[in-house]
Amino acid sequence: MLIDGFGRKVDYLRVSVTERCNFRCQYCMPEKPFSWVPKENLLSYEDLFKFIKVAIDEGIKKVRITGGEPLLREGLDEFIKMVYDYKNDIDLALTTNGFLLPKAAQKLKDAGLKRINISLDSLNPATASKIAQKNVLETVLKGIQAADDAGLKIKINCVPIKGINDEDVLEVLDFCKEKGYTVRFIEFMENHHAKDGAKGLNSDEIKQRVSKKYENFEIVPRDTSSPAQYYKLEDGYEFGIIEPHKDDFCSACNRIRLTAEGYLIPCLYFEDAMSIKDAVRANKIDEATAILKKVLEDKPEKNKWSVKDDNEVSSRAFYQTGG
Ligand code: GTP
Ligand code: 5AD
Ligand code: SF4
Repeated sequence: MLIDGFGRKVDYLRVSVTERCNFRCQYCMPEKPFSWVPKENLLSYEDLFKFIKVAIDEGIKKVRITGGEPLLREGLDEFIKMVYDYKNDIDLALTTNGFLLPKAAQKLKDAGLKRINISLDSLNPATASKIAQKNVLETVLKGIQAADDAGLKIKINCVPIKGINDEDVLEVLDFCKEKGYTVRFIEFMENHHAKDGAKGLNSDEIKQRVSKKYENFEIVPRDTSSPAQYYKLEDGYEFGIIEPHKDDFCSACNRIRLTAEGYLIPCLYFEDAMSIKDAVRANKIDEATAILKKVLEDKPEKNKWSVKDDNEVSSRAFYQTGG
């Protein structure tokens, strides 16, 4: 079992396979051109898998593939199959923007993927394009449907940004409710790559939007392993809000992240990261295990977005950390 320096059990590994992305979401990517990490710096699937095996052997029960946009990396279904074949009772999930799902969904399911989380910030085509800086909505909706048809369990992520999609909260909620998907609204986490001046709705403001149609909803007792606080509408439908600006958000954090370059990231808001790249490339599995344990020992108690009266801004965006 993996326990961090604050006694939290860590059983969830997020693995980013690429930082590249076919979207340029305003809350994640800079507008100005920038360069990607060169391909040769990335770990091969074989090397990523060597580390995943170590992590599973040490007690990881849930593996989520992320990016950037993970479906941009060729052979992702084969990589998923490698993990599934190693331990088929792992909770094996993927986070994606959905654009490449129309073709990929069935292959992913066949490879052993169980769950999929897809971004959907608006059901208005112009608003969705404004956020992603590309015409995306029609294809993403097809992607969501393809995942549904393939039998993957779906969660939708929506980041409401003031003045852009903050009035779309109810429509996204109703879409998910009708389709039977779970939706989580995420408070924007400030970072230096996002569009200047971007401001997210906080959880009270999100609840206000929901209460315009659904006056009564009750708080659901928190499942400690989930980053979301769930609320139940009168008809029983539950939606979530991810509230990283709250103090207690991190107290039950159960996760660690591996980037495509091999850095082990203990928290979305972190200062330093250690790399397992050399260890796995040289097949030094004991060394990789020792680095994992060291990173867990040093995992911070909480992120800095929850520091009150301080306008904290992370130097890293989600495309770099794996979200
Ligand atoms: P489930 O396994 O379905 O619960 O997924 P998940 O919420 O772990 O994964 P997903 O990739 O959908 O993550 C949604 C978002 O939750 C992330 O991109 C972040 O915005 C937020 N989040 C998840 N984990 C953390 C965390 O450790 N710290 C912070 N600040 N935010 C997190
Ligand atoms: N703040 C909050 N959520 C973000 N995401 C990406 N960047 C941010 C940010 N700065 C969301 C994406 C995706 C999930 C993995 O993280 O919308 O759904
Ligand atoms: Fe790409 Fe996800 Fe970042 Fe949007 S939030 S630019 S889809 S990595």
